[in-house]
Amino acid sequence: MIEGLKEKVAIVTGGGHGIGRAYCHGFAEAGAKVVVADIDAPAAEKVAGEVIKQFDAKALAAKVDVAGEQSTKDMAKLALDKFGQIDILINNAAIFATIPMNRGGIDSIDPAEWDRMMAVNLKGLFFCCRAVLPTMRRQKSGKIINISSGTVLNGSAGRIHYVTSKAGVIGFTRTLAREDQRQCDRSRFDSFRGQSIRRGS
Ligand SMILES: NC(=O)c1ccc[n+]([C@@H]2O[C@H](COP(=O)([O-])OP(=O)(O)OC[C@H]3O[C@@H](n4cnc5c(N)ncnc54)[C@H](O)[C@@H]3O)[C@@H](O)[C@H]2O)c1
Repeated sequence: MIEGLKEKVAIVTGGGHGIGRAYCHGFAEAGAKVVVADIDAPAAEKVAGEVIKQFDAKALAAKVDVAGEQSTKDMAKLALDKFGQIDILINNAAIFATIPMNRGGIDSIDPAEWDRMMAVNLKGLFFCCRAVLPTMRRQKSGKIINISSGTVLNGSAGRIHYVTSKAGVIGFTRTLAREDQRQCDRSRFDSFRGQSIRRGS
């Protein structure tokens, strides 16, 4: 179990399914209060219920479309109204399992699908970070973890839009960390760090 998360408030986007659900369970097991945020509201409710029942933890479900700025602001407000603080944001929501591993070559990708991929996987980070940063700055602490992908290192044929979006996650994260460093004094930067994680595919 991870230490130091007791009573922390963690928002997990895309928490209704897959790896996001596992993050929610992990935070709850470590004693954190979990905001399960997902576009699939019934799935978010289900995971919040699991967390409460299995780990005797505090949790709430938030319906969010990370591609919509107002929706992400509503998510942050809900977390703040209910739990009074926001300590951790896991930007995990993405279009991933709903597209085939081999979607096809560059010529076969519909421009509308490209746009939605960028709106969710990249603009979603932009909106979610903007939604929580005022609170984290006020608190003078907070952690944002953005989920990237190992595919960005060597490419992965058949889903160029997905891989491109995940490469963007890394540049976004490094830049956000630098911007925050410039704005903050040293001690504050130590307590607020952006991070990106590259997973296998
Ligand atoms: N599964 C893997 O092998 C793998 C490997 C590398 C990276 N990743 C990354 O890890 C993360 C989770 O992967 P996963 O396998 O659990 O994916 P998944 O597709 O199973 O889950 C994605 C979640 O995001 C939610 N979501 C989708 N669009 C949304 C939106 N607009 N607003 C809010 N929520 C939305 C979905 O409802 C779902 O709950 C993703 O960022 C993915 O790119 C996964």
